[in-house]
Amino acid sequence: MIVFIPKEKSRNETRVSATPDTVKDLIKAGLEVHIESNAGIESFISNEDYKNKGGVIVEDPLKAYAEADIVLKVIAPSLDEIKKMKSESCIISFCQTTRELEYVKTIKEKSITGFSMHLIPRTTLAQKMDALSSQANIAGYKSVLLAATKLGVYMPLLMTAAGTIRPAKVLIIGAGVAGLQAIATAKRLGSQVEAFDVRPVVREQVESLGAKFIEVESDSDDGIGEGGYAKETSEEYKQKQQELMHLHVSKADVVITTALIPGRPAPVLIPVVMVESMKPGSIIMDLAAENGGNCELTKKDEVIKHNQVTIDGTSNIPGTMPVHASELYAKNITSFLNYMIKDGALNLDLEDEIISGAMFAHRGKITNKQTSTALEEL
Ligand code: NAI
Repeated sequence: MIVFIPKEKSRNETRVSATPDTVKDLIKAGLEVHIESNAGIESFISNEDYKNKGGVIVEDPLKAYAEADIVLKVIAPSLDEIKKMKSESCIISFCQTTRELEYVKTIKEKSITGFSMHLIPRTTLAQKMDALSSQANIAGYKSVLLAATKLGVYMPLLMTAAGTIRPAKVLIIGAGVAGLQAIATAKRLGSQVEAFDVRPVVREQVESLGAKFIEVESDSDDGIGEGGYAKETSEEYKQKQQELMHLHVSKADVVITTALIPGRPAPVLIPVVMVESMKPGSIIMDLAAENGGNCELTKKDEVIKHNQVTIDGTSNIPGTMPVHASELYAKNITSFLNYMIKDGALNLDLEDEIISGAMFAHRGKITNKQTSTALEEL
């Protein structure tokens, strides 16, 4: 079977879905690997590097799509690209299947088997395939560094001959994978860190990293959804949360927001009035920008200023660290593909929790419930 690794064409996309090492692994599994010329260049991987591990460099991507049995990508391909693919072939990439509906429809119509790395179950067995976590980790880490370089103040406490410098105050909203990594990074830089999440279960994790957990008093199980994820909260909870947030946001030098609810737009947690209460020179890094943002003023892929507060809506922060982002993503996607390969061919066990969990289209049908509901509502 032929696996094709295209060059990512989206703006600001520096990542690639294979490294020379993962190409070697795929070949060892009995597959032939075609790589679009210069696919790895933004991640500092040359055509030669791939060739040295047995990859075949191809110049014409549309021809390569047409010949491939399996396509491995970071971002979902364009409709023109997907239309070139053979029916009954297979595509694996990131895809928010409840939102990228034209893409999903085309895959279904062409009877291509579609998998989304967004849908890989968060189970122990699937940990090595968990690209959401590997990329969120990078986003959490890098967001703190980006904020630090834009700040007009030091991050750590400093005792100098000219006086004592107070540490910067960092507030993290959403203590999932990205949030916890942001806490750890901000702590390493010496700042004072507070964190908030709707899931009280993360208190222990936040405190074990040395940060203070801010808790909204609530009698109900507000915010605790299925599978360890968050769900939308009640109006009463939202009101209490807003009041508490306002207090902490107004004192922060850096606010990093990561609050997401799977399949839903990101909750707006920082309205304009809260931004207007912030100190001049402070910064909001909105890691939920891709899904609409946690700040009312966030503009996806733009850095804006409101009064003297910077609001950074850069959506592909992992892409600013392409070497490790590609290395980890390539390992995640290769582990997933290898899990489905037997004797050099795809072996789709539809009873398997990971395979059926990550699949959204197969043999002309949508196999993921949330995706088919979203398509019906279109
Ligand atoms: P996510 O990216 O979906 O959301 C980020 C954080 O935002 C979450 O902690 C969520 O509770 C929080 N959030 C949502 N709405 C909020 C609101 N209104 N206010 C404040 N915070 C809000 O989450 P992520 O990082 O993908 O992790 C989700 C869960 O999956 C976590 O429990 C994590 O521990 C678990 N997980 C399990 C893995 C495994 O078992 N292999 C691997 C990775 C994550």
